[in-house]
Amino acid sequence: MTDYSTSMRTDRCGDLRIDDVGRQVTLCGWVDRRREHGEHLAFVDLRDRSGVIQVVVDGAHDLRSEYVLQVTGDVRERPDESANDNLATGAVEVEATEVVVLATAEPPPFPLDERTEVDEVLRLRHRYVDLRRPRMQRNLEVRARVTAAIRGAMEEQGFVEVETPMLVASTPEGARDFVVPSRKEPGSFYALPQSPQIFKQLTMMGGVDRYYQIARCLRDEDLRADRQFEFMQLDVEASFVTGEDVRTFVAHAVGAAAEAVTGDHPGEIRSMSWREAMDRFGSDKPDVRFGLELVDATEIFADTGFRAFQTPCVKGIRVPDGADISRNRLDELTGECKRWGAKGLVWMRLTEDGLNSPVAKFLSDDEQAGLVAKFEARVGDLLLLVADEWSTACHVCGLLRLELGRPPITEGGRHFVWVTDFPLFEGFDEAGNPIPAHHPFTMPHEEDLGMLGGDDQLAIRSLAYDLVLNGWELGSGSVRIHRREVQEQVLAALGISPDEARARFGFLLDAFRYGSPPHAGFAVGLDRLTAVLAGEENIREVIAFPKTQSGADPLTGAPTPIDDRHLAELGLGVLPPPG
Ligand code: AMO
Ligand code: AMP
Repeated sequence: MTDYSTSMRTDRCGDLRIDDVGRQVTLCGWVDRRREHGEHLAFVDLRDRSGVIQVVVDGAHDLRSEYVLQVTGDVRERPDESANDNLATGAVEVEATEVVVLATAEPPPFPLDERTEVDEVLRLRHRYVDLRRPRMQRNLEVRARVTAAIRGAMEEQGFVEVETPMLVASTPEGARDFVVPSRKEPGSFYALPQSPQIFKQLTMMGGVDRYYQIARCLRDEDLRADRQFEFMQLDVEASFVTGEDVRTFVAHAVGAAAEAVTGDHPGEIRSMSWREAMDRFGSDKPDVRFGLELVDATEIFADTGFRAFQTPCVKGIRVPDGADISRNRLDELTGECKRWGAKGLVWMRLTEDGLNSPVAKFLSDDEQAGLVAKFEARVGDLLLLVADEWSTACHVCGLLRLELGRPPITEGGRHFVWVTDFPLFEGFDEAGNPIPAHHPFTMPHEEDLGMLGGDDQLAIRSLAYDLVLNGWELGSGSVRIHRREVQEQVLAALGISPDEARARFGFLLDAFRYGSPPHAGFAVGLDRLTAVLAGEENIREVIAFPKTQSGADPLTGAPTPIDDRHLAELGLGVLPPPG
């Protein structure tokens, strides 16, 4: 038990229990609520980080919400009828003998209870007030516990924490760089690291065979519930290992974090290949907390006369008892599917009289019977079908599945999944060059090396893997390329010319010449891990001072213009906004 007493207090408000009855205590905290009781008696709920305690104050005191008090008094049992079972301290109260106002306070900018929805900009502008709320205190504690457990687990496994620089040259992780102008070299810029990727690989070449860092990463990308400009990673790299070894190290660390927060160890983490994840869940981050798995109906329609289904793939989901979903809702879902990239959505209700669907008349009896059998459909079920290329059909059905079945983050337990064997490339950019699914330092499957630069590059497999928790991508990693000629081959396949490769990654290519060990690594997004463990849907709730969705900080006003003198010193001028 931590001793929380200081020169100013003996106890914390939330820690007092029936065993403390009869003790004289001194507490410090904020006035959470105040209720008058008769002319001279007031009940004040005093709050600190640990919780709230009822204080009975006799005499005329002007004690308002959020005043900061030091209260000395005696702990006594509350009469039965006034005990509060909803409060950890609800069996006791403190009868104040002395009240010192340490600070007065203006009325708070918003109510601090957990019931009122408060505008986020207002919350962030007064984040110091917002953080006093029990939910935020708990989230900060969860976050600290996650980080501490992870550090402990990495140290225990013999990893060495190495700090890498913040002012760097660009690291390609697929986002835009934040840049910092150089005063000494006007016109030149540092990039802030999108991750420590290249540096951690260089530590491997430097003989640090087990590296980790609780690293801050910066990426200029559009913000969402699971994305901030700056975020934290557990960053890991090790030499003389396979991907499997790395997954074992990381599983140990996230398992320790989950256990530190929930008390339960998540146990062994299951693995599935990327292809299986796409086929069954329509996503490379499968949320396995619920069913509604995708069913492949392609074979049934091999010779179909229905034009919409004359495609390489037909996929669908069965919604048990979904036949009563309204026509309006089905039209809405069709619209969604089109926005997600499908050409349409076929729905079918299974009734006593067979399949009821606008397209039933285009399907043969065999096809209809085949569907019912394949989906194991029962009367009252709804079938939803999408026909397209394999990847589009999977993707759209995967989103439909989430739309119709995804439970809130606090429900259904916590299910980690490894997704392995990602493809090396995930598509092509406008110039026709393949886009790395992970990053350009990822090792292709040895057997697929010959396909680099060829016609079927999307089929090249890689040694990349992800960690997924309840449908969130928690982290990514891969076995790295450790041979110069392979790295040059991959950079060439990405359409990066030898000159450009030299300019951007010359230092890495050089490092390969001096003895590079085989190595592999991983990075876990700590904000996301903390959010899921804390039961929050948005990582802003587990970050002390986050940015809003638009990237602003309402508290400090950042970003702000800088003055002309400062600009001149940096050799910069600001263009007028594009008209
Ligand atoms: P990657 O880019 O996949 O891999 O990032 C790893 C994890 O970091 C988290 N993450 C984010 N969290 C919050 N806000 C963001 N903007 C954000 N971007 C990423 C995610 C993600 O899974 N260097 C490689 C790792 C490696 O290969 O070792 C990397 O950074 O949880
Ligand atoms: P159409 O022949 O385009 O009028 O479409 C007939 C029905 O099939 C409509 O309900 C469409 O939404 C649906 N549909 C069309 N193309 C597809 C497709 N590729 N996958 C699933 N449903 C489709």
